[in-house]
Amino acid sequence: MNIRRAEPKDLTKIQQCNLHNLPENYHMRYWAYSFITWPEVSYLAEDSSGRVVGYVLSSIEPDEQFPWLQVGHVNSLSVLRTYRRLGLAKRLMMLSQKAMTDSYNIEYIQLHVRKSNRAAFTLYRDKLGFQIHRKEVGYYGDGEDAYSMRITLKPTSFSHRLGLRFQAFVYARQRAVANWTLKCAKRKLSCTLS
Ligand SMILES: CC(C)(COP(=O)(O)OP(=O)(O)OC[C@H]1O[C@@H](n2cnc3c(N)ncnc32)[C@H](O)[C@@H]1OP(=O)(O)O)[C@@H](O)C(=O)NCCC(=O)NCCS
Repeated sequence: MNIRRAEPKDLTKIQQCNLHNLPENYHMRYWAYSFITWPEVSYLAEDSSGRVVGYVLSSIEPDEQFPWLQVGHVNSLSVLRTYRRLGLAKRLMMLSQKAMTDSYNIEYIQLHVRKSNRAAFTLYRDKLGFQIHRKEVGYYGDGEDAYSMRITLKPTSFSHRLGLRFQAFVYARQRAVANWTLKCAKRKLSCTLS
């Protein structure tokens, strides 16, 4: 078994593995975009014939609430049925996590998992230390709920957390001022026009 970083040349084989294992499938363009933009963070496992038997596809994104912060995102993980329970998914996840924290200044890593997916949920929570951040109702195409899970890998000091809170406060104030200015401008414009 060979485990290595995924590259654009592996696209077709990875997609085949994805189609075998998961109902959530991505367009080739998305895989290509990810590998080119964040080449360090996606990994694959291949057998002796070069067939991809497992992969993890990750990316780096802005935080939803505080967009100046970067977060790691695990978009897709799967292992072919005959290669399961050998520790492959755990190994792939750990490599991707390490690459995300070594190469990017991320605050945490997040992912979504189906509520009914015992295998993946156990892996994330019990073996890798992810915690449930929130439940997202009807997240998947077929209406199933997802758990949004997160893990913080870098040590966060009190002053770092305080700094983040301060940044969040400043950001919220700036948004409030911008919204108020916009509202005033709109009111002024409608008065001028009428
Ligand atoms: C989830 C998945 C990636 C796990 O792959 P894997 O290579 O078999 O996982 P690992 O061998 O690394 O397992 C690590 C741990 O995860 C947990 N785990 C894995 N499969 C499990 C199962 N069927 N039931 C319960 N726990 C399971 C166990 O704690 C396991 O440790 P252990 O073997 O020491 O008990 C694989 O089952 C899969 O591809 N499923 C379909 C696709 C999918 O659901 N992807 C995740 C989308 S969020």
